[in-house]
Amino acid sequence: MYKIVTKRCLNDSVTLMEIEAPHIARKAKAGQFIIFRVDEKGERIPLTIADYDREKGTVTIIFQIVGASTKLLNTLEEGDSILDFVGPLGVATHIDPNAKRVCVIGGGVGNAIAYPQAKALHNAGIQVDMIAGFRSKDIVILEDEMGAVSDHLYIMTDDGSYGEKGLVTNKLQQLIDAGNKYDEVIAIGPIIMMKFVAATTKPYGIKTLVSLNPIMVDGTGMCGGCRVKVGGQTKFACVDGPDFDGHEVDFDELMKRNTFYRERETTDKEHVCRLTGGKRNA
Ligand code: NAD
Ligand code: FES
Repeated sequence: MYKIVTKRCLNDSVTLMEIEAPHIARKAKAGQFIIFRVDEKGERIPLTIADYDREKGTVTIIFQIVGASTKLLNTLEEGDSILDFVGPLGVATHIDPNAKRVCVIGGGVGNAIAYPQAKALHNAGIQVDMIAGFRSKDIVILEDEMGAVSDHLYIMTDDGSYGEKGLVTNKLQQLIDAGNKYDEVIAIGPIIMMKFVAATTKPYGIKTLVSLNPIMVDGTGMCGGCRVKVGGQTKFACVDGPDFDGHEVDFDELMKRNTFYRERETTDKEHVCRLTGGKRNA
């Protein structure tokens, strides 16, 4: 069992939890993910690692309360435990030793993952400009944390209620037009955002990394659930990613696949196995 040592609401639908998992904290790196299961009936949910503390032996996850499993997880409090917490999985983000300046872009709850990327780059001595986009002021998360690991932090809101009004791509275009030179752009957020960030950087030939979160089941490359098309080839996000070259990803196919089970994901109904004639959990 894995104890919840800290629980903090970041906004009405996003929660931060610090989980006691020393064996994962020892090895975790930015860009990797874990898979958790609240209890023995729970589904396996992948979440990118938001932070870790090797000394305390804890791993931080930040999740949006969107489906039955994250709703259930959010009912737990500090001191409670979850059944499974497996990781670190996936390939850690490659930090280019020759990079001098990187622009990290987060969209909404994706900022929870953009933050550790920015932190890792900052700790490696790389200049980091960060663009963090939110729909409105009331859902801004991690502003102080992101500010502490970036040379410039640009907060964007769709409605202009905080920071500057506009999408993250508006700011990126503005920074490029103003002559800022980036060795790399890293984007994490809604698929549509990553698609348009990649479209913005492509004409300038700026290397662009995106972190994909397709549907996952086993997280070990066995089930094929997380397949994505990159450069015309099928890749498994859980073992080949989750980071990929944004100029090569087939975002439209990924968007289609990710909506496939949306209805099932957002209902509280228990799974009824059709292979066993409707007997539950057989
Ligand atoms: P959202 O829809 O509120 O969008 C956040 C920001 O993204 C917007 O404020 C805007 O600046 C930008 N954006 C959105 N659409 C855009 C477009 N068409 N062009 C340019 N920029 C655009 O985000 P949300 O509801 O918080 O959702 C966050 C998403 O991030 C979820 O879909 C979640 O699955 C994903 N996510 C991904 C990872 C990962 O590891 N890849 C991790 C956490 C969350
Ligand atoms: Fe099964 Fe990636 S989650 S292959």
